[in-house]
Amino acid sequence: MLWGVTKARTIHRCSACGETTPQWLGRCPACDEWGSLVEERPPPGGARGRSPLAARAVPLAEVDLGAERSRPTGIGELDRVLGGGLVPGSVTLLGGEPGIGKSSLLLQAAAAMGRTGSRCLLVTAEESAAQVRLRAERLSCVAPGLHLLAETGLPEVLAAVEQVRPDVLVVDSIQTVMDPDVGGAAGTISQVRECAARLVREAKEGSLTTVLVGHVTKDGALAGPRALEHLVDTVLGFEGDRHHALRLLRADKHRFGSTAELGVFEMTDAGLVDVPDPSGLFLTDRHPGIAGSVVVPTLEGHRPLLVEVQALVNHTSVPNPRRSAIGLDQRRLVLLLAVLDRRTQLGFDNADVHASVVGGVRLVEPGADLAVALALASARTAVPVPDDVVACGEIGLGGELRQVGATARRLAEAARLGFRRAIVPASAPDPPPGIVALRATTLKEAMALVGCARQVREVRRVRVP
Ligand code: TYD
Ligand code: MG
Repeated sequence: MLWGVTKARTIHRCSACGETTPQWLGRCPACDEWGSLVEERPPPGGARGRSPLAARAVPLAEVDLGAERSRPTGIGELDRVLGGGLVPGSVTLLGGEPGIGKSSLLLQAAAAMGRTGSRCLLVTAEESAAQVRLRAERLSCVAPGLHLLAETGLPEVLAAVEQVRPDVLVVDSIQTVMDPDVGGAAGTISQVRECAARLVREAKEGSLTTVLVGHVTKDGALAGPRALEHLVDTVLGFEGDRHHALRLLRADKHRFGSTAELGVFEMTDAGLVDVPDPSGLFLTDRHPGIAGSVVVPTLEGHRPLLVEVQALVNHTSVPNPRRSAIGLDQRRLVLLLAVLDRRTQLGFDNADVHASVVGGVRLVEPGADLAVALALASARTAVPVPDDVVACGEIGLGGELRQVGATARRLAEAARLGFRRAIVPASAPDPPPGIVALRATTLKEAMALVGCARQVREVRRVRVP
């Protein structure tokens, strides 16, 4: 009865994306990475079962909310993104590139919580205790309720939790913690997943608020993304250009609230400082009168933010001209170039095109289409867009303009910062006082409003400047 015997099932997990397959394959079927599948042993102790009799359904209205109320961390912008603060017993993953400021933010948050009576345990698996102490002194973070453990072993971390009994546990980072019961080196997908799963269990059983730090890979994905993201309650992303002082915090997943909010920080000598009114911040170094620059009133969560989109168009004779997008979706840029070409006859055939968003901001909403297209048209025709003009609207493939949400709020903020005219789709609601709406139904009409359209025929005849 050989076929009656069931073998313990081994799985193979992709170390790039976390996909699992029953047998080994040379190439991951999900992310197409070669040689990334590694065999994984089943977790020690097997699956933890519970008697179905122990489960009891309760009427929704009787569910106890007591434990789900968030507690402020004391860092204003972090609390804004979390919708008030950290929920007891929740697990949050803070991702970001190395050097962006994750350790600093969590040290400051742990110290702020330590000062207000919470007991915090900061596990540093990357830096030595002395390094953290030095930084804490510099940032005035030596708080009475803050405990520190410099360890990489998961059993030692759990023993420290047992000993300190903290309200909040910070593990910096999950990729450097290691469980000796699981094979492989620290940072491999099975180590990261098992350590995170064990810490999540600890958090849920002991109502221990937990924050895990996770490094992101070059292309912006959290290492072991699928394996970790579904385990935790909240995934925060810390981003920004390391060469700029501004840092942006977003929630990519949040079981306790909205993911629309944006937190803005400035990295200073005294650590991260909240920027509660960032709307005009990205315009500080704007140079007026340059072709290819347009300001868009974008919306991040509930906050309007004015950001500058820049475009540069250069002549090239290579058959495949360059299309580079920084802070914008590359495909969206290519699409807008196609619309410009077809619907306004402004071609970019023999031109390298560079488009970028100033200040390390990432513009993902379609409401930025019009500003990007006008910046491209302005750069191509060498006609600057007037300094007191903002533009917002989505562009369809027919070159038609569509209105975006919360136009009044966006324009009110633009007016507050001194802009006097806004190019908007014809269907947009009336603007707030202090700013005039210049309405257009198509991209071509919008270009005419800023004086680019009449240059188009001429530009088609001459080569790109
Ligand atoms: P860090 O919090 O160590 O980043 P991460 O944990 O994400 O790797 O911060 C890294 C950078 O921040 C460091 O290169 C220097 C800068 N920094 C400041 O400019 N001011 C400060 O007060 C601190 C603590 C760091
Ligand atoms: Mg760090």
